[in-house]
Amino acid sequence: MSARVLITGGQGFIGRAVAAHWLDQDPQAHVVALGRSPRRDDAFPHTVHWGEQPVPAPVPGATRRALDPGRYRYERVDLNDQPGLVRLIQAWQPTVVIHVAGALRDAGLSDLVTTNILGTATLIEAVAASGWRPETVVLGSSGGVYGAAGRLPVSETDGCLPLDQYSATKLAAEQVACIGAARHGMRVVRGRIFNVVGAGQDERHVTSWLAMQAAAIDAGVRPPVLRHGPLTTTRDFIPVEEVARALVLLALRGEAGAVYNVASGRETRIEEIRELVLAETGLRDRVEFHLTPGRPADIPRQVASIERLRELGFEPTLEMPEAIRSLVRYYRDEVASAASKNGKPAEPRPPSRQVSVSVRYDYPIEIRAGLLEQLPERLDAQFRGARVFILTDTRVRDLLGAGLAERIRRGGREVGLHAVPAGETSKSLERFGEVVEAMHRFGFDRRAVLVNLGGGLVSDLGGYVAASYLRGVAYVNVPTTLLAQHDAAIGGKVAVNMPWGKNFVGAFNHPRAVWVDPAVLQSLETVDLSSGVAEAIKVALCGSARLFRLLESRVDDILERRSPAVLEEVVRLAIDTKLAILEPDPYEANLRRSLNLGHTFGHPLETELAYRDLRHGEAVGFGIAVATSIARYRGVCDEETAERIYAVLHSYGLPPRVPRHHLQSACHRLETVHLVRGGALHFVLPAALGQVEITDDVSCADIQEAIERLARHPVLKDCVSET
Ligand SMILES: NC(=O)c1ccc[n+]([C@@H]2O[C@H](COP(=O)([O-])OP(=O)(O)OC[C@H]3O[C@@H](n4cnc5c(N)ncnc54)[C@H](O)[C@@H]3O)[C@@H](O)[C@H]2O)c1
Repeated sequence: MSARVLITGGQGFIGRAVAAHWLDQDPQAHVVALGRSPRRDDAFPHTVHWGEQPVPAPVPGATRRALDPGRYRYERVDLNDQPGLVRLIQAWQPTVVIHVAGALRDAGLSDLVTTNILGTATLIEAVAASGWRPETVVLGSSGGVYGAAGRLPVSETDGCLPLDQYSATKLAAEQVACIGAARHGMRVVRGRIFNVVGAGQDERHVTSWLAMQAAAIDAGVRPPVLRHGPLTTTRDFIPVEEVARALVLLALRGEAGAVYNVASGRETRIEEIRELVLAETGLRDRVEFHLTPGRPADIPRQVASIERLRELGFEPTLEMPEAIRSLVRYYRDEVASAASKNGKPAEPRPPSRQVSVSVRYDYPIEIRAGLLEQLPERLDAQFRGARVFILTDTRVRDLLGAGLAERIRRGGREVGLHAVPAGETSKSLERFGEVVEAMHRFGFDRRAVLVNLGGGLVSDLGGYVAASYLRGVAYVNVPTTLLAQHDAAIGGKVAVNMPWGKNFVGAFNHPRAVWVDPAVLQSLETVDLSSGVAEAIKVALCGSARLFRLLESRVDDILERRSPAVLEEVVRLAIDTKLAILEPDPYEANLRRSLNLGHTFGHPLETELAYRDLRHGEAVGFGIAVATSIARYRGVCDEETAERIYAVLHSYGLPPRVPRHHLQSACHRLETVHLVRGGALHFVLPAALGQVEITDDVSCADIQEAIERLARHPVLKDCVSET
């Protein structure tokens, strides 16, 4: 009997690819595609974009041509319309059903439940009620059902712990299908599809999103800013043609009741995809990057074992560069041409009497070993012809600043260099005035650019000068300490200290670019490295268990060996995490508050010690220990978490030794500062690795008790000294 195939989600991206592939490889086959959207041969039901213009996603020419009307038909039947499904199955008597209809990841919960779970259950019940038995029902599921796998590659025998509602509903769909199949004696084969790549895919998927932006930037219909999520994330990408081939194999040879990973078995970093897209469009040096946060519950690494699929004869053949090339071509050719046909002149806007101003901050953050050497070219590219003024501290001037100034000067530009004495005491109004004067003497005008080369002292001081000089001038950060690379240089908070309060005078002022060269970290003193780790522990506790584990497991690589690769990984992960926290909240509000973990006590401690003797990160390390002790005492975190935090702090020589009387005075300062600021005192407590709780009922007495508990703690007790 020749194959009669019924495909749900038949007008969708995977549905059409499966139909095209089946018809192509089996000249006798017939396909009925069903779906709820109106029939449309030239476009998918969703839209893609050309520049900012939404365009119904064109069906790629090759797919369109394969859907021969003599053997392919579309029926508009909703998956939840059981009588309609029963009629169709009775009339068509499919030998195979391939069920790939589904709501997309970001759909609302009710759509996810209705389409993914109820739709699947209804389909199985409709097959049962029709009295007709297809030989096989292939259920298209998702690789997301595994969640963040404990080991990689993830195999079909591993447990499932979905991290989001989409994946949870896909797993539930698998379960209802299996229950129905067992009850009605049906052969169901499950295919867990990983990250699909291909022309026409929804732009919520990273490959289409990057290809669309790059093609449009290249064509001049989008500003030259490429937005993307964390680059270190990995995925198992599989071209849609391969998915189609795998699903057809499952229909023909899959074992009833079994699960198969539909993937390529290759792990690819998002960064590699970005590189391929840049190479394809030649945009590498013509585009800025803007990091957007990953999904709140994201899987950091993913790759699947495809042994089972291989046993059926599957072998991935398409290469990623080829897949990305055809994706970019799709945008350049098919989407661009569909957009020009659809294009309508923009409606004239009605006159408005209200003025509204919206401000966005987009700036590239580039992380690359050796970047410092390329700074003159970077400045040329972004600030052509502008005079350059480098602010640094005395130590960094001798190590890096003088050489950088010389290289810029050799390129024919005027450059000024000013160094404040190294150390936190330079983060003061006196030095602020001194820098303003030096810039004025240099002839710094509105077109000039300030380069903050140094640690957090320099980026905080310089950022604040840039906010005030001539009411605001351009600046870039070139952070040279670990702390500044992943923290101080990013986020736009700039300030100087006052004798009574840390960061008491300041502003929000974002740089035009942050250029991070992890290679410069080799010359840091150990205490400065530990200090940077303290802030990395903080950000890990706020949002990245992965970063925490990295810091826990690579102490020697970071502190002793200073492995460039590991340090770079720390910087990248910490930046990704900080941005994910800041992005929805660029000004101080709720999410950002979590980044105050360790600071509520750390800041008054620094003030108490007159900004001498203790590095900022060391004070933060102390604050994290205090917050952990309070969290453990209140049952906010469990013992294991608290001990892991203490242990990781200890392994980096944190918290430092501080006399008890200074710790006690810092508590009282906290109350005073707090009274000056007004409002509730927000205290951030670690709840689990990557999760914090914010409370406003921590008193000076609570902190003092926590300090006493630390003084008795077997690992940390030395941090409280008598003198
Ligand atoms: N704005 C923010 O969001 C933010 C966030 C965290 C911290 N901060 C601020 O950052 C400051 C602390 O920053 P920090 O720890 O970088 O201190 P820092 O700038 O004082 O640098 C610490 C020491 O490292 C030296 N140094 C810098 N780069 C070096 C290199 N490549 N090799 C050798 N030595 C080098 C400096 O000369 C200095 O002696 C504090 O004022 C803190 O409040 C700001």
